[in-house]
Amino acid sequence: MGREDSVSNGLMTTATLACVAVLAMASVLLGWQKGRGGGGGGGRVQALIYEFQHRCALPLHLLRKISEAMTHEMTAGLSTESGSRMPMLPTFVEKMPTGNEKGVYYAVDLGGTNFRVLRVLLGGREKRVMKQEFEEVAIPHPLMVGTSAELYDFIAKKLTDFVSRESSEFSTHAAAGARELGLTFSFPISQHSINSGLLIMWTKGFKIADGVGQDVVQALQQAMNRQHGPKLRVAALVNDTVGTMAGGRYFDPDVMIGIILGTGTNACYFERADNVHKLQNGKPLPKTGSMVYNMEWGAFWSSHIPTTHVDEQLDAESINPGQQLYEKMIGGMYLGDIVRRMLLKLAREASLFSGEVPQQLMTPFVLGTPEVSKMHADESIDLRVVAKTLAKIGIHRTYLHTRRAVHDVCDIVALRSARLAAAGITGILRKIGRDGKNGEYTRTVIAMDGGLYEHYAKFRIYIQAALTELLGEEAVKYVVLENFKDGSGIGATLLAACHSQHG
Ligand code: BGC
Repeated sequence: MGREDSVSNGLMTTATLACVAVLAMASVLLGWQKGRGGGGGGGRVQALIYEFQHRCALPLHLLRKISEAMTHEMTAGLSTESGSRMPMLPTFVEKMPTGNEKGVYYAVDLGGTNFRVLRVLLGGREKRVMKQEFEEVAIPHPLMVGTSAELYDFIAKKLTDFVSRESSEFSTHAAAGARELGLTFSFPISQHSINSGLLIMWTKGFKIADGVGQDVVQALQQAMNRQHGPKLRVAALVNDTVGTMAGGRYFDPDVMIGIILGTGTNACYFERADNVHKLQNGKPLPKTGSMVYNMEWGAFWSSHIPTTHVDEQLDAESINPGQQLYEKMIGGMYLGDIVRRMLLKLAREASLFSGEVPQQLMTPFVLGTPEVSKMHADESIDLRVVAKTLAKIGIHRTYLHTRRAVHDVCDIVALRSARLAAAGITGILRKIGRDGKNGEYTRTVIAMDGGLYEHYAKFRIYIQAALTELLGEEAVKYVVLENFKDGSGIGATLLAACHSQHG
């Protein structure tokens, strides 16, 4: 999305935006009433949907409390090592790309369901990104739960193959010696420097016991050595939020925050050194200037966040119970499964599917967030996209009122997720004094990336509506959410260039 588009998004008649949330609620009520009849326990379905809606509701006063809790937790996490559930990790990124970067750089981007390798040719201020090439592959599930050597060997193999296919268009511009690489590793990492760091834990369905505590750069270098491929040096190890922020800043100097709304969720921002009081690995952090902090906001929690029994179950049955609770209500990895669990409850307790409990709904993750997004976007009178999507997972011949209920559940879950994310965003804006509350309005761009944000249109509208409620109609005009698609990969190459040994 270009800047123009997102500015106009930001300025989209705010009255319309503020109404969206209200209309969404109303559609839940009206939708059901219109579709009554035709099998199933209508009254009970309606009652359960009301209950979900009520339990997931985030009226403005709650949003404000959650947003304030976010600001508070940020300060706490910067004060002492375990001051908050959010680790607030220093990234050792103290400078952002300026546009003057030149040369050939590589990136590896690992973090969600896909894995990418890319190379770029940077041509300096005038020519910018002259050429880029990338390859993307889905990460086979066994690798997400296997051994660390298997995962790094897989990455190293793909990377070696990719680097060895570098064409002369790139190589004629490359500096002599090892190619340099930005490694985007989208998990919590305790960094010691710009290009080293220990993995704290896995998230998003990864669980590789021997990977925790390992230096990820060393692990990759060792795997590269096992491949006997071209020489590569990891110049920068970055989180995807940091890569996105750097990618955004390359094109827009007003980028202050990076946010991922994808399989998982997280945020980073520039923090002044004098606001940071904790030690890192027993040592004080540099006290000059500012540094990007990787918040790991997926670990955030506040008692004001509305939960249901379904959320508790999802967490308890996850591979990381008790962790990443905010992420489990927002991230694309989980929204589909929250919907599935709610539908299962509706089927069991209110005969949503005419008394049958579809076997398919018992399979965890059978419903993904892309399906939820498609069903939610269905505006047809007979909700035929909902029907088709349900049929794809083996639930055939549904009544219209059943499909309406499914549509309503998608709405409840996406609305809560978007409003929670908006509360987090305003929490950061408050922390950096960009929420307009001091009467000063400065254009602040938030670099966004991730499939949830990119592909789920209603979700984006809900975020914007909640931001308008929280910030007010004037201040929200200065906060621009800009989608930098695949920004994290490009950003990693740019940060590799900023930290290059070739000068
Ligand atoms: C990880 C973060 C990452 C986010 C988005 C979370 O699960 O802990 O490091 O930035 O997902 O990919």
